[in-house]
Amino acid sequence: MAKKPAKPDAFAETSVDALTKAGAAKELARLASEIARHDALYYQKDNPEISDAAYDLLRQRNEAIEARFPELQREDSPTSRVGAAPSDGFSKVTHAVPMLSLGNVFDDDGVRDFVDRIRRFLGLDADAPLNFTTEPKIDGLSIGLRYERGRLVQAATRGDGYVGENVTANVITIGDIPKQVKAREFPDPFEVRGEIYMSHSAFAALNVEQEKAGAKVFANPRNAAAGSLRQLDPSVTASRPLQFFAYAWGETASLPANTQWGVYEAFAKWGFPLNPLAKLTSSLDEMLSTYSEIEEGRAGLDYDIDGIVYKLDRLDLQERLGFVSRSPRWAVAHKFPAEKATTVLREIEIQVGRTGAMTPVAKLEPVTVGGVVVQNATLHNEDEIARKDVRVGDTVILQRAGDVIPQILGPVLDKRAKSAKPFVFPTVCPACGSHAVREINPNTGKEDAVRRCTGGLICPAQRVERLKHFVSRNAFDIEGLGAKNIEAFYDEGLIQSPPDIFTLATRDSCAEIKLENREGWGETSAQKLFAAIAARRNVTLDRFIYALGIRHVGEITGRLLARNYGTADSFVEAMGVAAKDRASATYAELENIDGIGPTVAAAIADFFAEPHNVAVVEELLKYVSPQALESVDTASAVSGKTVVFTGTLEQMTRAEAKAQAERLGAKVAGSVSKKTDYVVAGPGAGSKLKNAKDLGVAVLTEDEWLKLIS
Ligand code: IVH
Repeated sequence: MAKKPAKPDAFAETSVDALTKAGAAKELARLASEIARHDALYYQKDNPEISDAAYDLLRQRNEAIEARFPELQREDSPTSRVGAAPSDGFSKVTHAVPMLSLGNVFDDDGVRDFVDRIRRFLGLDADAPLNFTTEPKIDGLSIGLRYERGRLVQAATRGDGYVGENVTANVITIGDIPKQVKAREFPDPFEVRGEIYMSHSAFAALNVEQEKAGAKVFANPRNAAAGSLRQLDPSVTASRPLQFFAYAWGETASLPANTQWGVYEAFAKWGFPLNPLAKLTSSLDEMLSTYSEIEEGRAGLDYDIDGIVYKLDRLDLQERLGFVSRSPRWAVAHKFPAEKATTVLREIEIQVGRTGAMTPVAKLEPVTVGGVVVQNATLHNEDEIARKDVRVGDTVILQRAGDVIPQILGPVLDKRAKSAKPFVFPTVCPACGSHAVREINPNTGKEDAVRRCTGGLICPAQRVERLKHFVSRNAFDIEGLGAKNIEAFYDEGLIQSPPDIFTLATRDSCAEIKLENREGWGETSAQKLFAAIAARRNVTLDRFIYALGIRHVGEITGRLLARNYGTADSFVEAMGVAAKDRASATYAELENIDGIGPTVAAAIADFFAEPHNVAVVEELLKYVSPQALESVDTASAVSGKTVVFTGTLEQMTRAEAKAQAERLGAKVAGSVSKKTDYVVAGPGAGSKLKNAKDLGVAVLTEDEWLKLIS
């Protein structure tokens, strides 16, 4: 935006934290019309009244209020409005249907298992006919294109799968993407999904231009496509030749067909580009031979592909199969083998992670593998280095597959110098000097492969890593507070533990050297950071739990816990009880949550048995109000209920019944307790049925269950 001085009294502000709900609603209405007015002045009249910074503050205030009162978000909210991306970044878009990813397989057996698993899940015979689409996996960026009344109204990146970035203004410049679909039968709304990519020839030409202009040269077409799509100035995106292939859909009023292939045919009719190598295949052999054909032709394609995707063709079966964690059961990616290269190992560096794990990292002579320059690779752990006998100075074979961290396969022994000595793994932590030990796994009685620093919170490396994890993308995801700033703030003593993040603004207001006066900061960037922090005081409970960095608690477990306990208070209270008494019913309930089990339950209890962890959580909850997750399907009769399946089911497999119950918001447990709401018993049910009767739990037949959920 053109710079003009800000109006000094742009608006009289009540701080976001102090707003009442009614006050917030009023303020959101005021901001929506104010921002719309400035957008019109800027975009249509080319005559802005306020500076970029003042405009940014309006949007940030709007976002912070929406974050505190999500239920008050207006239909005309500036956050969701299209065509006027904020000048300093992209607004966020919550995907109506999550944009999830695909599971991977690496060989023919993996594909066979995938097909067999589908048959087992659906209870189909080995010879029941099943069609799959077989199509290239495009190495680009996924995008969701929302059409209303046939008009492209919003384009969003995948982001974390649930929330992406609004890149509409940029996507509008891509010639391959229809802006208007005229077909009468085009559903309204309809979200087409697919991949944005850059061809090899366009990539090469772009890099020549970049070099001439003294600008950044891109490592590969994918990075070039990403960099081009995320331009703040759409005219730059317009000058970069991006292309598109359609292969999926999101929210839709209806579907034009009842098979994947049928939808592709409709896509083509409506003017969306489809990958010409995509094919409908009707047997495992045909899927695998198509894989080989496409792989053989790979080098001759003008765009990057990194594997083949198989999708079960019938949409009714896709629906029944559903998803497991973040991937569909009905589709899989068959990855091409990793690319290899050799280079020299200069040094082995030990990095200390947030749980104290010491990971050896190979520092390499830079080498290009699979289109990117690699300088670091993981050596996994002490035993791996010994097993492969990798020594500093060795020429090593390196492998890189897709987004996976490059790996060292082993040394080239012919090239080894006589003086090369076996690597001695340190037994003290390089960051804090504490002893580093290999624990004995209580379940297996075996020594852990990982050596860990015992310094806990006195170890600066662990503290910094925990902070980085806390603000990371799938945890608090605080814009402007990435790994680099965390390191700097930690070194300067500004942020030592997570609660410090939320007191940063208050402490800054009376600090001797204010953030805005520090190197690399200014008034706008400091205010932006404070607003971004304030906006995340209402993260969802699953993110909050995940952010705590409890061992074995990843995003999926975070979700399970958030769903199970509902609020932060009941979670913390229950974990307090579970930590104190592992014979308690509360501990048993934790361990009994489907998907949790003994190792994870013990790790959570261990975490809450440490007083300093509890102190951090309690302190955090003074500043942060984690939001309960929306139930998967609150309208369903079994939402929030705990169900146990036992005996043989006749109309679907056990796996399908479980997945369906979970989709409807029920919890599926493995054993019967007083907390069980229903036991669904088929023929052959044994002790679980007996337990249910003893405890007075409702017992349903399969038919009764299906009637209940229908
Ligand atoms: S289907 C529910 N088809 O691969 C999953 N994805 O690892 C829907 N991708 O995020 C995705 N080519 O960015 C699908 N022909 C294709 C694809 C494809 C590339 C990407 C996509 C996705 C990732 C999954």
